[in-house]
Amino acid sequence: MTVTDEPVAIDDEVLRRLPKVELHCHLEGSIRAATLVELAATHGIPLPTTDHDALYRYPDLAGFLVVYETACSALRTAADFARVTYEALEDAVLSSNVRYREMFFNPTLHPGTPYPVMLEGILDGIRAAERDHGITTRLIPSIYRQDPVASALELVATVAEHRDDHVVGIGMDGDELADPPERFVAVYRAAAAIGLHRSAHVAHDGPASMIETCLDDLGCERVDHGYHVVDDPSLVSRLRDAGTTFLCATPTPPLCGWSDVFDESPVRRMIEAGLRVTLNSDDPPMLHTDLGTEFVKVCNGWRLTPERTKQLVTDAIDAAWCDPTERAALARSITPELDRMLGLSPG
Ligand code: HPA
Ligand code: ZN
Repeated sequence: MTVTDEPVAIDDEVLRRLPKVELHCHLEGSIRAATLVELAATHGIPLPTTDHDALYRYPDLAGFLVVYETACSALRTAADFARVTYEALEDAVLSSNVRYREMFFNPTLHPGTPYPVMLEGILDGIRAAERDHGITTRLIPSIYRQDPVASALELVATVAEHRDDHVVGIGMDGDELADPPERFVAVYRAAAAIGLHRSAHVAHDGPASMIETCLDDLGCERVDHGYHVVDDPSLVSRLRDAGTTFLCATPTPPLCGWSDVFDESPVRRMIEAGLRVTLNSDDPPMLHTDLGTEFVKVCNGWRLTPERTKQLVTDAIDAAWCDPTERAALARSITPELDRMLGLSPG
């Protein structure tokens, strides 16, 4: 049973404190507003406003991406990358008890900063957050789909040249209606050839057929968002049977054309259809949320059972792109805590 007719069963604070694994979150979408204002001043980057509350407001996806690109341009030095990485991870631990996180970053949106410099800074931030807060992190360089294919190919070559064990896969974000996924088939082939895992943001705004392109043509192993799957019942059946993992985030409006009534979210329909859904915060400060808040909204808002709530976390563990030994250790440390906190018997 997925949902219950019982009144709210799980305490909000328990949901916030549950140990979690997060697989879809953007480094550059995780910059505290105050930090962005400071870094922009340091590097002489004009912002539309320096008011912390007004900075992260947008009418639509295009407006969001303008601010996102500006945030990217305010990160210049290795120290900048280390700072925002550390702060993003600290926020995830303190707000939501995230134990393991995979973070996208967009190397091509920092043209003044060589890849090894940004990687060095990000790794410094990861190590400091692991030391202070015990969180483990892996990285996914993301293709910005508005880029030319040649620069996406160059990105994969650069990742190969500066190989690091923290970098586990390749992703793709940006405005999907403007640049559909099939443009990047050769890039995904190149990423597979150097042993990177693959995923892509698709069917957030675009049609369900983009999910098939993502899985069948790009060879993706996970689907980022994928909400329009609900428009295609035969695809729902196929992906339920295949156990495909969807990396969902509920704070969609005003980013796309979905209803802003929370109960009408496609994520709810995906859970009810039996798809393998994980919850994610995507761009937490930019979307005014955190993963703990997402668990409260989804698990209590839609009255998920404790068993289904546990599965949101265990499905994320199973889909994590760390090596199998590390994944097993993560499961061993997290599962008993989930059982205890959710009042479930082990197993
Ligand atoms: N949508 C598309 N691209 C993005 C997003 C998003 O929410 N966040 C960072 N890149
Ligand atoms: Zn995203």
